Amino acid sequence: RNTYKIAVIAGDGIGQETVPEGLKVLSAAARLFDIGLDFEEHDFASCDYYARHGEMMPGDWKSRIIDSDAIFFGAVGWPDTVPDHVSLWGSLLKFRREFDQYANLRPVRLMPGVPCPLAGKSPGDIDFWVVRENTEGEYSSIGGKIFEGTDRETVMQETVMTRQGVDRILRYAFEIAERTERKTLTSATKSNGISITMPYWDERVLEMAKSFPDIAVDKYHIDILTALFVLKPERFNVVVASNLFGDILSDLGPACTGTIGIAPSGNINPTRTFPSLFEPVHGSAPDIAGQGIANPVGQIWCGAMMLDHLGHPEAASAVVAAIESVLSDPERRTSDLGGEADTRGCGDAVLEALEKHVSQNPRNAA
Ligand code: NAD
Ligand code: IPM
Ligand code: MN
Repeated sequence: RNTYKIAVIAGDGIGQETVPEGLKVLSAAARLFDIGLDFEEHDFASCDYYARHGEMMPGDWKSRIIDSDAIFFGAVGWPDTVPDHVSLWGSLLKFRREFDQYANLRPVRLMPGVPCPLAGKSPGDIDFWVVRENTEGEYSSIGGKIFEGTDRETVMQETVMTRQGVDRILRYAFEIAERTERKTLTSATKSNGISITMPYWDERVLEMAKSFPDIAVDKYHIDILTALFVLKPERFNVVVASNLFGDILSDLGPACTGTIGIAPSGNINPTRTFPSLFEPVHGSAPDIAGQGIANPVGQIWCGAMMLDHLGHPEAASAVVAAIESVLSDPERRTSDLGGEADTRGCGDAVLEALEKHVSQNPRNAA
């Protein structure tokens, strides 16, 4: 039996409500599939921690989680008390960089029985991956402010693309495309307007494509690509994009499947030198925090991605099957999907569906 050490960071807002549901389902999966999961909860990387300590994380944060097998993360951000760039650069963005989690993997899937906001689409029509570059690009701290306080006040911030950084995310995305049936990949840029970095990305895509002759490659400017996400989502299989464009596409994609509340993500360090981090795509949702109504499915699906990453795809598929069964039922899904359940009720329903699924498909279970 394998035992894994999991660092748990719930963070702010609805992270405090969704993480317990994720842990509940993970614990059940661990029991049913005989996987050892040791959860170690941390209170840092939250704006509450900041209020108490004047910083988002303790000086030794890294040594406290670096030997974890994975990080299970909720959400960070409480802009009423800490400016977002302070809380996020002091936590999540630090993890991504310090642990070299250069691939942000974000599935977009219309689940059976979920009302789709796009007319005439059924589940198989929206089923793709957004692969987002996660450590460089538009998210750089290179820049500054000059002539402050004068009428010439100027701010600037550079986009950074390194050959290594671009090539490794492209290779990662092409490799995913290779494992899919459709063998297509879409690259997002804006090389008509942004004339140095974006054409560079295009150039590297062409170069990388030579190593993957069986993958058909499409490229679009980000503006029309967002339109196509809404109009022709069936066109996409693997969509690879820079840090900022990937961020935008990975809220738009899930919104097209009904809610951002179900969308998971893996911040992956593919070399496995450092722990990878699993967190929902959504944030701390201050507008609904504390009400117990947040959709826990994004968080629970993160648990499935984490199980898969740890080498337990059978447990991961069982959790996803449980999620599918719950989402198809208005009584068991949350109000963002027009359902009647609250956060805990939905989490309980996934847990129950998981137990049922495993008892009906005992082949891979413990
Ligand atoms: P958000 O994702 O928190 O919320 C956007 C909207 O979606 C809100 O109306 C919210 O109620 C709704 N929503 C989000 N998750 C939901 C869920 N699980 N169930 C039901 N409804 C849900 O985005 P925002 O409002 O732009 O950001 C709020 C805070 O979260 C900010 O501080 C922001 O920086 C931070 N943030 C953090 C992360 C992260 O930790 N990965 C991601 C995005 C935003
Ligand atoms: C995400 C979030 C973060 C990002 C924010 C909170 C910094 O939006 O994980 O998608 O932009 O990467
Ligand atoms: Mn985002």
